Amino acid sequence: MKTFIANLPKAELHLHIEGSFEPELMFKIAQRNQIKIPYNSVKEIEEAYKFNCLQDFLNIYYQGAGVLVTEQDFYDLTYSYLKKCADQHVRHTEIMFDPQTHTDRGIAFETVINGISKACDDAKKNLGVSSLLIMSYLRHLSEEEAFKTLKQSLPFKAKIKAVGLDSSEKGNPPSKFKNVFEASVKEGYIPLAHAGEEGAAAYVWEAIDILGIKRIDHGNNSLQDEILVQEIINRDIALTVCPLSNTALQVVDDLKNHPLKKMMDLGLKVTVNSDDPAYFGGQVNKNYEAIQEALNLSKYELFQLAKNSFQYSLLEENKKQWYLNELEVYYNNNK
Ligand code: HPA
Ligand code: ZN
Repeated sequence: MKTFIANLPKAELHLHIEGSFEPELMFKIAQRNQIKIPYNSVKEIEEAYKFNCLQDFLNIYYQGAGVLVTEQDFYDLTYSYLKKCADQHVRHTEIMFDPQTHTDRGIAFETVINGISKACDDAKKNLGVSSLLIMSYLRHLSEEEAFKTLKQSLPFKAKIKAVGLDSSEKGNPPSKFKNVFEASVKEGYIPLAHAGEEGAAAYVWEAIDILGIKRIDHGNNSLQDEILVQEIINRDIALTVCPLSNTALQVVDDLKNHPLKKMMDLGLKVTVNSDDPAYFGGQVNKNYEAIQEALNLSKYELFQLAKNSFQYSLLEENKKQWYLNELEVYYNNNK
C-alpha cells in the first residue's frame, strides 16, 4: 500500500504555503534576516506544535510566517514545498497564500507574489509540477481589510486563479465577506473557502449560498445536516479533507473515527490533502497512508481520491484529462 500511495499520481488542493514552513528552513531564514524566533532546537519546536484547537495553531503559524521578509524567502519556502511535491508524485498543486499575514508586517504584496510565483514557474520547468495560486483572505480581519488585499492583487491578477477564506472560523461566518467575494468574482477569481472545520453546518450553507464557492476546504461539519450533504452532492462541490490536520487540531479525536469514508459512501466528492504539513506531522502522502490504515481503504478507494483531486482541481479540462489518463493507466497496472 505504501508503495502504491507513494507512486500514485495525485494533486494537492488544500495547502497553505506558510504552513509548509519546515523548522530547518525557518531557522535558516530567521538567521538570514536576523530575526529571533522563540525556539532553539527542533525539539523545542515539536513541543510547541501541540494544539488544542485551530486558534492555538494559528498563533504559532502566524509567528513562524513572521520571519519571511524578502522575495528570496518566499521563493525558498515555495520551492522547498514543490520539491516535496515532485518526490511524492504530486503532479499538480493549488497553493493558498495569506497576503495579509505579510502586508500587515510591512512586506509588499509584490514581494510575496513574485517570490511564490517565480518558484512555481521554476518548479514547472525543472520538476514538472504544475501549480496555481489561491489568495486567501484572513477571516478574523474585517471585510474592508480584505478589499484592500483584493485591490493590491489586481496588478498581479494573471498569477492568481482563486480566492479563499481562512484563519479563525468560529465567530467569522462567510456572510461577513459577501461583498468582497462578489467583487473578487467580478475580477475573475474563483471563490473557495474554509467552512465546517470548527464552524457548524450553517457556515457551510453560507459559503455555498452567499459566497457561491466552488470547493469547500475541510467541510467536515457538513455531515451534521443531511439536506446540506444532498445539496453539496447536487451542486457537485468537492471537499478538500485534511486528515492529519483534523487530528492535530482536535477536529477529529482519532483517525479511526474520521468521517472520510462515510463522506465517500454518502456520495460526497472528497480529496486528501496536508493543509499545513510542517505543523501537522506529514505531507500529502503521509495523509493518504494514515487515513488508508485507519479506515482500511482499498486501492480502488485511493484511486477514487486521487481521481477527485484532478477532477475537482481548477485546471482546464484538457489538462485534467491528461492527468486523469496517467492516473488510470497507473491504477490499471498496479491494482
Ligand atoms: N484552517 C483555517 N485557517 C488556516 C488553516 C486551517 O486549517 N491553516 C492555515 N490557515
Ligand atoms: Zn486550511
